Amino acid sequence: MTFSRRDFVKTSVLGAVAAGVGAHSAIPEALAETGQQGHASLADSPKHPIILSANNGYAYVEAAYAFLKGGGDTLDAAIRVVKGPEDDPKDDSVGLGGLPNEEGVVELDACCMHGPTRRAGSVGGVRNIKNVSMVAKAVMEHTGHVMLVGEGAERFAVAMGHARENLLTERSRKIWLLWKESNSDRDWWGPGTADPHWHPPAPESKPQAGVWQERIEHLQQSAADLGIEPEFQLAAVRRVLFPPSGTIHCSALNEKGEMSGITTTSGLAFKLPGRCGDSPIIGAGCYTDQDVGSAGATGAGEENIKVAGAHTIVENMRHGMSPQEAGTDALKRIVRNYNGDMTKLRYMDMTYYILRKDGAYAGVCLWEGYSAGHPHKFAVHDGTLRSEPATPLLKGYSQDWPPMPVVPEDLRKDSEYLK
Ligand code: GLY
Repeated sequence: MTFSRRDFVKTSVLGAVAAGVGAHSAIPEALAETGQQGHASLADSPKHPIILSANNGYAYVEAAYAFLKGGGDTLDAAIRVVKGPEDDPKDDSVGLGGLPNEEGVVELDACCMHGPTRRAGSVGGVRNIKNVSMVAKAVMEHTGHVMLVGEGAERFAVAMGHARENLLTERSRKIWLLWKESNSDRDWWGPGTADPHWHPPAPESKPQAGVWQERIEHLQQSAADLGIEPEFQLAAVRRVLFPPSGTIHCSALNEKGEMSGITTTSGLAFKLPGRCGDSPIIGAGCYTDQDVGSAGATGAGEENIKVAGAHTIVENMRHGMSPQEAGTDALKRIVRNYNGDMTKLRYMDMTYYILRKDGAYAGVCLWEGYSAGHPHKFAVHDGTLRSEPATPLLKGYSQDWPPMPVVPEDLRKDSEYLK
């Protein structure tokens, strides 16, 4: 069975509203109360030094914290965290092994801000260079500019001593092939959810669970045929069905009260070549103000750009909001941009990582996670390394773009591929 996003968008009659869409349409009433709960640190005395990171940086935080505690610079500490996933060929959200654009080419984005010297650096759409976090820092330190993109950024990186290398690992190439062969009719061309004429996909005439089970089994077989290792096949299927936007953000605060932030990504999987999301945009993917705090984002880049998320959050804190209130307000602006229309909002997700100058912090997210039992989490180290769940604004689970019929909850819970 072939599903086409354009077919979904253009075809209007396939039956009544799917059960899942109905469930989501009830969600506006479930908007969480601002400040209903906070992380332990908000109640306790904030501590620093402290490092706050997206959870895919967890394994690298301990060493970075030791570096920070030993007097290391805050931006260098944050880069030590994000460089881990950038170097890891198995992390397909960033750097080496990142999922490629629709043409099978890996394009990376990053930006950083150094609080103590109030400087910023950024690169967008960089090919062949894996540590774009360091290249963003080099733009900040070695040029009179803030942002370099594309071929110019790549040539600058080489001039700064970075080696050109093929960033497309065999695993990411096979996932891209799986998408190309089976799902690339559902690409990023055509109007998006923000278009006033966009309609959510029509429901399938067959029972939802059957449609999904068939599709997943077919894709898994294709993954096996392409040589994707058995233990990774369902994860590959998930990436094809729900192209992720990956990304890692890290903010760090030292004992002197200095702070910095960095965000790096391979961006939205199977994007149009040249697409930049929020990660290289100072004020969207990352923002640090030495007087106030630091914030960063992972998730739907297009939505975050429209609310200038990281800058909005820092400004909210400047005007007295707590980290959690500041992040929740930014999430509400995303909801407001869609007039609270859950048939659109369920195709996007966003997590903000927020660190105030006094060491108070919060992680907030639009939805609870991808599925039951898999909440959005972040890593924090203020003397003790731990993972904490981010506080969701909306009850329920996102179903990322591109739009497809709703995955039945029972299948979501049972399916390994959603991990
Ligand atoms: N947040 C990463 C991206 O949308 O590219």
